[in-house]
Amino acid sequence: MKNNLYIIGNWKMNKNPTETREFMKEFNKLYEENKNKINSNIFYGIAAPATNLAMLKITSNDCLVVAQNVNENESGSHTGEISINMVKSVGAGAVILGHSERRKMYNETSQKVSQKAQKVIEAGLIPIIAFGETFEEYKMGKTKEVIKKMIKESTKGVNLLQVILAYEPVWAIGTGKTPSLKEIQKICAYIRSITNPNVIIQYGGSVKPKNIGKLMNQKDINGALVGGASLDPKIFIKLLTLNK
Ligand code: 13P
Repeated sequence: MKNNLYIIGNWKMNKNPTETREFMKEFNKLYEENKNKINSNIFYGIAAPATNLAMLKITSNDCLVVAQNVNENESGSHTGEISINMVKSVGAGAVILGHSERRKMYNETSQKVSQKAQKVIEAGLIPIIAFGETFEEYKMGKTKEVIKKMIKESTKGVNLLQVILAYEPVWAIGTGKTPSLKEIQKICAYIRSITNPNVIIQYGGSVKPKNIGKLMNQKDINGALVGGASLDPKIFIKLLTLNK
């Protein structure tokens, strides 16, 4: 059997603690009912808004609790920010860093991502470092060049065996469009070749029950980072069963 697969839902700015509790109640039931269809090498997690992390921790069993962002400073005058120890104290075991939405809308640079990743590792959490090309870059055949730079700068000073790399083509996020399976596998193999043979590589961007099986079968893909399809427990469970 292939190595472990890490399937993580990214709820983005959706759901409150009550809705989180309701999700987990239904999800836990579905998980039990579908247990025989979920391979033992599949691990799952949910990246929820910071307000919901404690609820996620309390109501879930084996779910990796993931934060969507942290500040690299320990404490102090950073109004509106949240520290690594704060999310850790309510159960987070990992943090997404450098999601394209944060890079684009909140000016999160690769340099910032590497600073944050170092601190996240020091605190004993796993950084999930996201990167990917825009549609223009894809069309111009610049994908490798663009992601190489992003990976290099975002993982500076970081042990690649202590992170998860998440390849998310910007144009595949929330659009229903994806590169072909062959293209995704090729890029993930490339990522492995320029990083470490044992690095964990997730693919993200319009992952749905209908395409997850084939994606997870690709040699160099070790998991998925899933937006829209992670919001409904009935659909999320189908991702974990690989649509069986
Ligand atoms: P979708 O699965 O909705 O395309 O979102 C992907 C994503 O941004 C996960 O981080």
